[in-house]
Amino acid sequence: MTLEFSTLFSATNIKAIPLTNRIGLAPMTRTSATPEGLATEDMARYYTNFAKGGFGLIITEGTYTDDQYSQGYFNQPGIINEAQIDAWKQVTSSVKQQDAKIFMQLMHAGALSQGNRYTTETAGPSAVKPQGEQLGFYGGSGEFALPKVMTETDIQNVIQGFVKAAKNAKEAGFDGVEIHGANGYVLDQFLTDYTNERQDEYGGAIEKRLRLSIEVVKAIREAVGVDYPVGIRISQAKVNDPNHKWKGGESDAEIIFTKLEDAGVDFIHIAEPNAAAPAFGESGPSLIELVKKYTDTVVIANGSLGEPNIAEALLNDGKADFVTVGKAALANQDWANKVKEGKQLEEFDFQKILLPQASLKEFEVKPKIEWLGEGMVCGPDGNCN
Ligand SMILES: Cc1cc2nc3c(=O)[nH]c(=O)nc-3n(C[C@H](O)[C@H](O)[C@H](O)COP(=O)(O)O)c2cc1C
Repeated sequence: MTLEFSTLFSATNIKAIPLTNRIGLAPMTRTSATPEGLATEDMARYYTNFAKGGFGLIITEGTYTDDQYSQGYFNQPGIINEAQIDAWKQVTSSVKQQDAKIFMQLMHAGALSQGNRYTTETAGPSAVKPQGEQLGFYGGSGEFALPKVMTETDIQNVIQGFVKAAKNAKEAGFDGVEIHGANGYVLDQFLTDYTNERQDEYGGAIEKRLRLSIEVVKAIREAVGVDYPVGIRISQAKVNDPNHKWKGGESDAEIIFTKLEDAGVDFIHIAEPNAAAPAFGESGPSLIELVKKYTDTVVIANGSLGEPNIAEALLNDGKADFVTVGKAALANQDWANKVKEGKQLEEFDFQKILLPQASLKEFEVKPKIEWLGEGMVCGPDGNCN
């Protein structure tokens, strides 16, 4: 083994789940499930390839949690019924034949839904039309719909959906779950001041805007037991507002991270365009450093860590315990093995890797890609940065 990456390749664990190294696949929506939200054989092969390629932990694409407002994209997989549980079993059993673990990311799209087989309506904390346009990349076009304001009952349904989905994920053989609290989806819509204008217990001060996330964490924890890994993904950036920053700066970070830890998360997975960059302004600590500063929880870092030297340094400096790789992993499904063996990594090429994906062909969407793809902006020429 190349000694320079000895930390990346050191074993660790999340709760009692042993991980062979500190390298994870970041969750990535691929809209390649059946229209009924069933994971396919191709998806089993796709995820298994990363396991074969040396990733110690696979985190699935965002998977919807109920038959109401959670589905975000057509051909997104779900985890809400027996057929979907069975379909995911082929993925978990195949991945686990390798030396890897697999967590499911649980996602409720809320007002950012642009393809839901159960309803044409969207719902969110308040009647605020999301900024920007739907992601053409995932088959949408034009403005987002004006969401219906979620009632108390809708909110309880969101929580119960997450709980049932977590239990289903456990039944399907997942080693843990990650709650999608990032990127502008429903939990982030509640957290964000300008999308949450509620006057009730779920709106107002940051503690109240965080309340739904906290209730989801606690309810899942109670349902799956103390031993089952449950974490949350948090970001400032949103798919439709990539430059967003928390207004309260470090004080917001302190409240968010300490309350999530108190609620019982086993890890906080931070997704920033650049994990190592200052969280607020030109200087100061990064968001991962703030999780370390205010909690004792496991910190997973994501964002521009495809260059192994940077990832290794971050771990060595004690800024994170684990890293996940997104686009560089799509370009190198064997990223971990290549790094271990000192082999050359392929560059991520949007045209080659993502453009040919099924949803574009299916919806005949032209590559008008103003895709604020979770840390990436691509122009119509397919060049991304
Ligand atoms: C095709 C694609 C799909 C994505 N889908 C998701 C998703 O389902 N859930 C999520 O939390 N982040 C998603 N992301 C964001 C990635 O997990 C990651 O945060 C982002 O790519 C930045 O990491 P990187 O610099 O290693 O690529 C997606 C990114 C890409 C490129």
